[in-house]
Amino acid sequence: MNVHDSEKMAGILASEGYSPAESHKDADIIIFNTCSIRDKAEQKFLSELGRLKSLKKNNPGVKIAVAGCVAQQMGARLLSRAPHVDFVLGPQNLKLVRDIANDATGSSMLEDNPMLAEEELPALRKEKGRAWVSIMYGCNNFCTYCIVPYTRGREKSRPSESIVREIEGLAAEGFKEVTLLGQNVNSYRSDVDFPGLLGKIDKVEGIERVRFVTSHPKDFSAALIEAMAELPSICEHIHLPLQSGSDRILDLMNRRYTYDDYRAKVWLLREKVPGIAITTDIIAGFPTETEEDYQATVRALKEIEYDGIFAFRYSPRPGTGAASMEGDVPEDVKLDRLQKLLDLQDSITIRKNAPFEGTVQEVLVEGASETDPMRLAGRTRTNKIVNFTGAAEEGALINVEILKAHKHSLEGRVA
Ligand code: 5AD
Ligand code: SF4
Repeated sequence: MNVHDSEKMAGILASEGYSPAESHKDADIIIFNTCSIRDKAEQKFLSELGRLKSLKKNNPGVKIAVAGCVAQQMGARLLSRAPHVDFVLGPQNLKLVRDIANDATGSSMLEDNPMLAEEELPALRKEKGRAWVSIMYGCNNFCTYCIVPYTRGREKSRPSESIVREIEGLAAEGFKEVTLLGQNVNSYRSDVDFPGLLGKIDKVEGIERVRFVTSHPKDFSAALIEAMAELPSICEHIHLPLQSGSDRILDLMNRRYTYDDYRAKVWLLREKVPGIAITTDIIAGFPTETEEDYQATVRALKEIEYDGIFAFRYSPRPGTGAASMEGDVPEDVKLDRLQKLLDLQDSITIRKNAPFEGTVQEVLVEGASETDPMRLAGRTRTNKIVNFTGAAEEGALINVEILKAHKHSLEGRVA
C-alpha cells in the first residue's frame, strides 16, 4: 500500500512538472513515505531522516517532507524533533503533495479526509506489466496490535465505476495484471460488494490476472470463494493472515474468528479452487502468549501447509489496545519462537515447491532478476517467483519450463 501511495505522490508531482531525481543531492523535493506498522520500520526511517540534516544545511532550498503513517502519528512533534523537515503529510492527504510543489505553507495535511475514496489520483508506475489499484482506504477492525486504524482512519470504498475506469485505462496502456489494494478488501462496499466488484473487473478486456490484498478471515465469504472459482482472471493465490493458531490469543487480538473457522474456510477454498496457493502473516510473542499458545501456531502451520508465511515478532504500537496489556513476552522468547516458525515454514515451502519441477508455468515478466541480473524474473499465477534464462519482454505473459525448485523461488528457462 505504501509503495502505491508513493506512486501516487510521484504521479501528482509529475503532473506539476516534476520528474524523478537521480539522487538526494539533485532533488528539489525529498519525500519520505513512512511505515509505522512495526517499530523496526519506524526506527529505520528516523535514522535515514537524521542523515539528511547536513544535506539541508548545505542546500537550504531543498524541501523535505515526511509522508505516511509515521507522519500521521507524530504530526507536529516531528517538525520540532527534526527542524530540517518542512512538511508532514498524512496518508489520507496525498493530493496535498501539490501544495508542497507549489510552496504553500500552513495547509493542514494531517486531517481526516472523508472524501479520500472519491479522489482520482494519477500514479507514476515503474513496472509495465502489473499495477496496484486502490479499491478502499482505512480500516474499522481495530485488531489490538495494529496501528493502521489510527493512521489511515475509517473504511472508505471507492465507487466501482471509478475503479473499473482506472483498470480499463491500465489495460489500454498494456498492463496485464492488477492487484487490488485495501486493508480489508472483503468489506468493500459501494453499489456492489467485493465479489460483485471482482465480476466487473473480470470483464475488463486485456487484464488477464487479478489479485487482491489483504483479506480478513472473518469476512472471507462463501460468495467470494465462488467468485474466485468462477472468474477466470482471478489468480489462484490468496494471502489470508492467520496471526496466531491459538483461539485465546486470537480473541485478545480482537480478530473475531477461531482457528476452526479459519481452517474451514481454507478447506472450502482448496476444494473449490484446486491448486490455490495460500500465504499468511503470523505474529510471534503477542502479550501473554504461552508455550501452549505458540504450539497451537506450530500445529496450524503444519496442518495448513502454507506456500509461504510472513512472520514478525510482536512490536507494541503506541495507543493500540495491546500496548497497555500486561504479560509482555521477553524479547529472547519472541525471537526464538519467530526463528522456529520460519525454520518450520522453510521445510514446508521446499516440500510445496518441489512438484513444480518439470512443469511449464505461465509467468508475467517483471524484468531483470534481483538475485542475478543476467536472468529475468516473473511470477506464476500462484505468485511464486521464477528466475529464468532466455529472452522475453518486460510485461509479457510467457511460458517457462521449471527446472529447479528452491525455498523462495523457482528456476527455469523460457519454454
Ligand atoms: N507487531 C508485529 N506485527 C504486526 N503486524 C501488524 N501490527 C503488528 C505489530 N504491532 C503484522 C501483522 C499484519 C502484518 C501486515 O503486519 O501480521 O498482518
Ligand atoms: Fe490492522 Fe486488523 Fe485493520 Fe489489518 S484488519 S489493518 S491488522 S486493524
